[in-house]
Amino acid sequence: MTTLAILTAAGSGTRLGRDVPKAFVEVAGTPMVVHAARRLAASGVVDAIVVTAPHRLVAAMSDVVGGDTQITVPVHVVAGGATRQESVAAGLAQADDGADVVLVHDAARPFASADLVRRVVAAVRAGNGAVVPGLPVVDTVKAVSAAPSATRTSGTVVEPVTSTPDRSVLRAVQTPQGFDRALLDRAHAAGAARDPDAHATDDAGLVEALGEQVVVVLGEEAALKITTERDLYLAGLYAEAPL
Ligand code: CTP
Ligand code: MG
Repeated sequence: MTTLAILTAAGSGTRLGRDVPKAFVEVAGTPMVVHAARRLAASGVVDAIVVTAPHRLVAAMSDVVGGDTQITVPVHVVAGGATRQESVAAGLAQADDGADVVLVHDAARPFASADLVRRVVAAVRAGNGAVVPGLPVVDTVKAVSAAPSATRTSGTVVEPVTSTPDRSVLRAVQTPQGFDRALLDRAHAAGAARDPDAHATDDAGLVEALGEQVVVVLGEEAALKITTERDLYLAGLYAEAPL
């Protein structure tokens, strides 16, 4: 029984707009990717980590994660792909044959706690093939018709509302997501065969496309994703919390 974590860190961080890719951006003096890897290692249930890096920065990433004494499990760095899905697939290709559970986690969620990692792995080991952390949605969510039908009224874009999903059954989904390894392999093989424009925004989506069951466990605010400067500021709140 071996658990591998794929830590996706190959994105460019366009929306954050820094001069280094997002995973290298520091929070409280430490790169996001290191914060994330420390917590995966501290969970005690992850045996090894594969980090996906921007292809020109594989060596730089190895220096950053290889030199951190708090990352107490073996870390291997591979070049990611053009999309997140391709990056995860590149990581999965490096997965040890012995790994029977695979976690997929975003370096952009550096403060997902070791406790969350343990709860996701426990739910997979309890027999759930695909497990995602999720939080109840606090806003009322409206679906709107696709962008081309949006019109401008007095200089303001107006979008016709098509429906209001029942908020009580919605969850905002985070990472780490945990999978039975054979199921994730199958989901990615099927996903790779589809139109690249239809690439999934998370791995559980690929499992759902197979018609297989995905389950949600309670997520946490600390696992917020850093997309903008505002998120970076908020994430700083969690930097001092115990791993
Ligand atoms: N990611 C990846 N490979 C890609 C794109 C994204 O490994 N080709 C990773 C990112 O490094 C990040 C996670 O997927 O940890 C979630 O992606 P996102 O938050 O969108 O990060 P970026 O793509 O880097 O940011 P942006 O979309 O603003 O450019
Ligand atoms: Mg992105």
